[in-house]
Amino acid sequence: RIHRIASIPGDGIGVDITDAAVEILNVLAKTIGGFEFEFTTFDWSSKKFLERGWYMPPDGLEQLKKFDAIYFGAVGWPDVPDHISLWGLILPIRKSLNQYVNVRPTRILEGTKSPLADCQREDLDWVIIRENSEGEYSGQGGTSHESSPHTVATEVSIFTRVGIERIMRFAFETARSRPRKKLTMVTKSNAQRHGMVLWDTVFYEVAKEYGDVEIDKMLVDAMTVRMVLQPKSLDTIVATNLHADILSDLAAALSGSIGIAPSSNLDPTRANPSMFEPIHGSAPDIAGKGIANPVGAFWSAAEMVRWVGEEKAADGLMKAVENVTARGVKTKDLGGGEDTKGVTKAVCQEIETL
Ligand code: NAI
Ligand code: MG
Repeated sequence: RIHRIASIPGDGIGVDITDAAVEILNVLAKTIGGFEFEFTTFDWSSKKFLERGWYMPPDGLEQLKKFDAIYFGAVGWPDVPDHISLWGLILPIRKSLNQYVNVRPTRILEGTKSPLADCQREDLDWVIIRENSEGEYSGQGGTSHESSPHTVATEVSIFTRVGIERIMRFAFETARSRPRKKLTMVTKSNAQRHGMVLWDTVFYEVAKEYGDVEIDKMLVDAMTVRMVLQPKSLDTIVATNLHADILSDLAAALSGSIGIAPSSNLDPTRANPSMFEPIHGSAPDIAGKGIANPVGAFWSAAEMVRWVGEEKAADGLMKAVENVTARGVKTKDLGGGEDTKGVTKAVCQEIETL
């Protein structure tokens, strides 16, 4: 079996961690056997944007559609306004390839710890399901004047029944597949009275089909407190594009570091390739230093391996990663003393002994 992967390293540490992920994936395929990865790298980055004026060529999305999956590093660099880089690359891919679900698991890996004093490994095991196609990131709105005291800018959130229903259904299926069968819906329908009210309404409609799943509802502000003070009370979480974006960075920090958190941008219909990327950005503050934590990139790679049907290899990869963190081979953000290459080498060796 050959799995054809489009790789988009992007900017900053996106490049380091993508290189590391490609390296371990090749070792994984060779060790486990029975399948291969064929990578095609796309040099779509902020540096190239500054040279040629575009992130993706006009047929970029068509090119990506030919692959089985997409592996993405990070995009964004201080020389380019962030809304230009995000809308030049990552957001059009998610939207145009119908990747309407973003799955963000969070747990405390072996040999690592939460910054929360009493939080043990079994106390924090969440999956955040992020609506990935509409809501606050619909891209609708405008600015009235270039610059005047009377300038008005709007940023319109768009919620559709179809869009809400499909993400709720995915979230309920995820909750049902986990031992605790528990789903927390995050909202802000006290202050936002249209889109968020429809969000709540559709949640309760879909809930009727999932009588075996325990549900509750949290306002997003109170949710941040609950994540910190009662992590064990949560399991599967469904939230809007913006809310889940924010809550998943908090979740990652509570599980040890933003550097370990993975994400899967899924088109559950499988009509288009899905895209896998760590949740962190290009981290200009540490770019070029070789110290980025590659664990989030490896975990994202494992999710990709699972999505293309190589379950055994995906489990093996995560086992290898946790064997390495358990031994204390970690980057600085996790309290260790290794660099990106050191952790990558240790994971490769671990895979070879699987
Ligand atoms: P960031 O996630 O890049 O960095 C936040 C902090 O976490 C920094 O101190 C960084 O050093 C640290 N960090 C992040 N990943 C790490 C890793 N693997 N190992 C160790 N430390 C790590 O977020 P920030 O600074 O807000 O954004 C930087 C750029 O990345 C911006 O241009 C932003 O728009 C872009 N961005 C892109 C994303 C994407 O491509 N999907 C997602 C988030 C941000
Ligand atoms: Mg984010």
